Amino acid sequence: MSKNVRALAAKCIFNVVDKGRSLSDELPHAQAQADDKDSALLQEICFGVVRFLPELEYCVRDLVDKPLKGKQRVAHFLLLVGVYQLKYMRIPDHAALNETVSAAKPLKQFHLKGMINAVLRNYLRQKPEQSTQLPEPVEYNHPSWFIKKLKLAYPDKWQTVLNANQQKPPMWLRVNHQHYSVEQYSHLLNEANIAHQVITVAEPTILLDSAVDVAKLPAFDNGAVSVQDGAAQQAAWLLDAKAGDHVLDCCAAPGGKTCHVLELEPSITMTAIDIEDKRLSRVEENLSRLNLSATLVSADATAADWWDKKLFDRILLDAPCSATGVIRRHPDIKWLRKAEDIDALAQIQQQILQNIWQMLKPGGTLLYATCSVLPDENKAQIEQFLSKTPDASLQAITLNADDIGWQILPDEQSMDGFYYAKLTKNN
Ligand SMILES: C[S@@+](CC[C@H](N)C(=O)[O-])C[C@H]1O[C@@H](n2cnc3c(N)ncnc32)[C@H](O)[C@@H]1O
Repeated sequence: MSKNVRALAAKCIFNVVDKGRSLSDELPHAQAQADDKDSALLQEICFGVVRFLPELEYCVRDLVDKPLKGKQRVAHFLLLVGVYQLKYMRIPDHAALNETVSAAKPLKQFHLKGMINAVLRNYLRQKPEQSTQLPEPVEYNHPSWFIKKLKLAYPDKWQTVLNANQQKPPMWLRVNHQHYSVEQYSHLLNEANIAHQVITVAEPTILLDSAVDVAKLPAFDNGAVSVQDGAAQQAAWLLDAKAGDHVLDCCAAPGGKTCHVLELEPSITMTAIDIEDKRLSRVEENLSRLNLSATLVSADATAADWWDKKLFDRILLDAPCSATGVIRRHPDIKWLRKAEDIDALAQIQQQILQNIWQMLKPGGTLLYATCSVLPDENKAQIEQFLSKTPDASLQAITLNADDIGWQILPDEQSMDGFYYAKLTKNN
């Protein structure tokens, strides 16, 4: 494959949208084939096209004679790559157009060069104005099944959620309290001229004004700091493990929350399990960078065959979920996730919850977490569990006593969408 950035982008987007592969797997593969200097451009184009897919498809729909199918399908994505640059990037029009047209050859679509050139020129000439008549999936760049679910769940806020999902995500830092306080690390950032704010949700943490390469973060290699969204950081604070506790992190990979819990209380004994071996090795890498330790177990959390029968004081269940709260970070979720996945995920979540409840000590705490905004995986899930589990009670997290758990919507205090519920096992 050539090093043509637009060709690599079109192929990568084709693999995500048509082949159902994940953008976080496909992009590094494309970047490995590009020149280093083009890596950021490739990322911007791939994320941008996947984020604004329906809107870009709407722009070209009436400009092509007939839909591009089969072997020509990759040219469809090349057209979207072209329109994205013309609509959203600061590349001069003639450069974006010429570079996009010349990507046809490495994609083996040389015969479509003239058509691609004509469509992009027509787009520039006509630039269809956004009207209020746009179908909702085009206006909000989300699938209609998801818009429908959001409207039901958040009649007053669904548009805010959809708009938040289309923004570029901010970069948050988690300060390792074994090294520095947030205040001390904030000083180091000031000395390094890295603009940021200290934000307090449950505890103070750091939000950067713009993303930076981790290599530029003071003492990153020494484990002084990690990249983790503010919403995900709430898990360890809420779990509130105490010295000497026996803790289970269920569904732990890649280990962001495992490490945070240990940073706050290194004297605990931590067991971290995940069903995916490959992802478990990322937990190991993260622990080793931060000089922390845990017992890692590759196992299915719906079964108990891996458990030595020693009860846990605290359990964090960061359940497998639709990830609909982190769409701004992973826009491919909009196209990879299907409506029918939600019921299947809700079933697994309930199975895991019921299975690991037996592993919790009386008086112990289980923190249920998802990065979903859908009540089926969150509030409804906890209500169902409480109704079936007489020895479980819900602890309040928010100030509103009627809330079943804490639903954070995307961009609330700049955080990702997340859900937490804290359950106690009655003595
Ligand atoms: C939301 S991610 C966890 C993120 C992690 N807690 C963190 O903070 O870095 C969910 C994880 O659940 C794992 N998983 C999915 N089904 C599982 C199961 N049946 N048993 C154990 N782990 C499972 C996935 O492999 C994935 O790593």
